Amino acid sequence: MAFNYITREEAAEMIQHGNTLGLSGFTAPGTPKSITEAVAEKALKAHEAGEEFKINLFTGASTNDHVDGILSRNNALNMRAPYQNLPDLRKRINAHDCHYFDRHLSEMAQEMRYGFYGKMDYAIIEAADITPDGEVLLGCGVGNIPTYAMMADKIFIELNEALPKRLYGMHDVVLLQDPPRRREIPIYAANDRIGSPILKIDPSKVVGIVKTNSLDGVKSFSAVDETSSKIGANVVDFLVSEYRCGRIPREFLPLQSGVGNVANAVLYGLGESKELPSFMMYTEVIQDAVLELMKKGKCTFASTCSMTFTDDTERDLFSNMEFFHDKILMRPAEISNNPEVIRRLGVIAMNTALEADIFGAVNSTHVLGTKMMNGIGGSGDFTRNAYISIFSCPSVSKGGLISNIVPMVAHADHSEHSVDVLVTDQGIADLRHKDPVERAEAIIENCAHPDYRPLLREYLKLGRGGQTPHSLEAAFAFHTAFSETGDMRNADFSRYAK
Ligand code: COA
Repeated sequence: MAFNYITREEAAEMIQHGNTLGLSGFTAPGTPKSITEAVAEKALKAHEAGEEFKINLFTGASTNDHVDGILSRNNALNMRAPYQNLPDLRKRINAHDCHYFDRHLSEMAQEMRYGFYGKMDYAIIEAADITPDGEVLLGCGVGNIPTYAMMADKIFIELNEALPKRLYGMHDVVLLQDPPRRREIPIYAANDRIGSPILKIDPSKVVGIVKTNSLDGVKSFSAVDETSSKIGANVVDFLVSEYRCGRIPREFLPLQSGVGNVANAVLYGLGESKELPSFMMYTEVIQDAVLELMKKGKCTFASTCSMTFTDDTERDLFSNMEFFHDKILMRPAEISNNPEVIRRLGVIAMNTALEADIFGAVNSTHVLGTKMMNGIGGSGDFTRNAYISIFSCPSVSKGGLISNIVPMVAHADHSEHSVDVLVTDQGIADLRHKDPVERAEAIIENCAHPDYRPLLREYLKLGRGGQTPHSLEAAFAFHTAFSETGDMRNADFSRYAK
């Protein structure tokens, strides 16, 4: 079938106030870069004319400035799920200008199919290629697009000429059956392929193709700082000691790692380790460090949802496709983050916390308990099902004014039942086979910053007994001290003494 080539403005003209859109991609890679900008401009004009204009937007994870950035600045988002990470959108969410549903990334696609989120009007798919009968070669991230493309009434394609056709073979596109007919997912090793290299869509739903030409624009990370590199070294020490005493099998286990400086530092640390064997990754994103590890032979394969590479690394990949092509497989989020597969493969999960409490609960999402930062992302999918679940964070933030180890987390994303190991720049607390008081002692002595240890010890003594001896009166004394004085070190437990 012959497709219509249209401009982004013509595409935006078709999208109406109240429409629901689903986008391809996961983080910036694979995410459309053009039509949503024209939608944002249309919204701005409508608002200037005193008319309402907002859309509902579903993605794979975070997006890019062409999507969440400009749509938020122009106040064009009514509802957004399942994950975001841009300051402009964060502001809208925290001001209640945008309804945000923070969902586990593995669950979004199936919940859409179950009908929890209503109908989908348009899917926008970034493609490296499309055939007349609707075989789409996706870009550098998959996300939830198999489901969105199936559910949407109409489809736009953004054909990105910067993407090489040699991406063919790097995707593993699968659509799961829904209960009660779902079968097992036959992935028995991180590199098992179970689906198709292309996304098959109904060509009659394609209402237009917009041409684009740009890389994914992932920003470079700042150089690994001292704190991140200490955390990275501590995580590597923990893994080496587990490996030495045989609690990790000789052939090692697949790794999941988040994005950011700490994750980068951990991966570089693993690359340097002489004792650990080469390994595979079963994860949702891979960043620059993974490509380096592949070149060294340390990482032999990565199953992921997205290749979250900076532009330089993306260019490096595209010009060395022969080497990397068979070492990376991109899958939909409901497969990359699937609890069944994570549990079966024995994935070692490494995620980052905003704050953790002395009993091992973790807050990944809410700054000081109320303000949404990014979202839970895939951290819950991996943490709950991992062979070993490791959380890390710096011991303090804002130059020491905030302790990231607190008496009680001000918002709980991951409970002590799922968190096995906590790591900061100060050291490692292995929480396995420890009761709550033993956990608290390990976290205070090994992970808290020395400035905060006396205060945390004092808090632990305040506890009114019971298995988990919290003092409910004093549990948020750190957070209260910060909001009243700007420094958690001013927490005063004497007023709660028995
Ligand atoms: N209280 C208040 N602010 C805090 C804080 C705390 N306990 N801990 C960190 N912050 C602030 C930092 O000071 C920093 O502020 P700045 O931007 O003004 O400098 C900001 O929060 C980010 O902190 P940083 O240490 O740089 O965090 P990060 O980039 O490593 O991200 C998370 C940490 C938790 C926000 C991030 O990992 C996340 O969103 N996780 C959830 C999603 C996830 O885990 N996905 C799965 C893997 S991709």
